[in-house]
Amino acid sequence: MRSVHRVYGFGPSATNALDGVDLTVPPGRFVSLIGPSGCGKSTLLRLVAGLERPDRGEVRVHGVTPAQACAAKMIGLVPQSPALLPWLSVLRNVTLPQKINRGAAGRRERIGGFEKRQVPDMRDLLVKAGLGEAMHKLPAQLSGGMQQRAAIVRAFGLRPDVLVMDEPFSALDEFTRESLQDQLLDLWDELKTTVLFVTHSVSEAVRLSDTVVVMAPRPGRIVETIDIGLPRPRGERLFKERRFHEYEDLIRDRLRHAWHGAAA
Ligand SMILES: Nc1ncnc2c1ncn2[C@@H]1O[C@H](COP(=O)(O)OP(=O)(O)OP(=O)(O)O)[C@@H](O)[C@H]1O
Ligand SMILES: [Mg+2]
Repeated sequence: MRSVHRVYGFGPSATNALDGVDLTVPPGRFVSLIGPSGCGKSTLLRLVAGLERPDRGEVRVHGVTPAQACAAKMIGLVPQSPALLPWLSVLRNVTLPQKINRGAAGRRERIGGFEKRQVPDMRDLLVKAGLGEAMHKLPAQLSGGMQQRAAIVRAFGLRPDVLVMDEPFSALDEFTRESLQDQLLDLWDELKTTVLFVTHSVSEAVRLSDTVVVMAPRPGRIVETIDIGLPRPRGERLFKERRFHEYEDLIRDRLRHAWHGAAA
């Protein structure tokens, strides 16, 4: 993203949702966005996912516009609520995108510079996500956490080059959340996707990310980009390590500044 501005509304009531945002995410990186409510995190994701366009500045995904990247199904979106189709089984929900997007591979090849994409075995991914027994059930028969896992598997199903996730774990209890983080890291490791992840949880951001982007509101902007130099895999032991908590403290400190700036 280069010098990206996004304004909602007009005149004195206009909101500067994003004001001069520059962000470069190298392929394969796991990047989290964190910041007070209203600082433009979802707006940033929507611009990358091609759901909106910037008023000024430029957004490119692997060198093409988000609209072109979407048409080639290079972008997978996990929205805050799982949005599964209630009349289809879990397995049919997660395989549907592959069935209706047969033309995308050709479009992606024309953009060029990519390896041919292997379509993952969705049954296998469901089993890995702990949904092996649930795959023939309807979404209404699953718990909220299971539905969220299904939405994540579905987003991985097209093997997107960029995976965009807006607070996917926010409604979960701590242990379900940790287990889903594990599963997400496993899938990420396996599929080598670039991830843009929004969260309000500092420990989640530190555990998952290569880079944490701290944002502040009014106007929405990036205040700091922090690389997390912790080794992977980042299992449970990480929570007992001093360096993990030092990163947490650093990010909390930056967030506090962002909050005070927001309140002023
Ligand atoms: N469609 C819209 N119309 C008008 N204003 C909007 C619209 N979408 C977002 N905004 C405003 O833009 C700003 C950024 O919103 P955004 O949803 O990106 O914030 P966020 O960082 O995702 O917040 P949260 O943590 O609460 O999800 C907010 O002030 C919001 O009120
Ligand atoms: Mg949001």
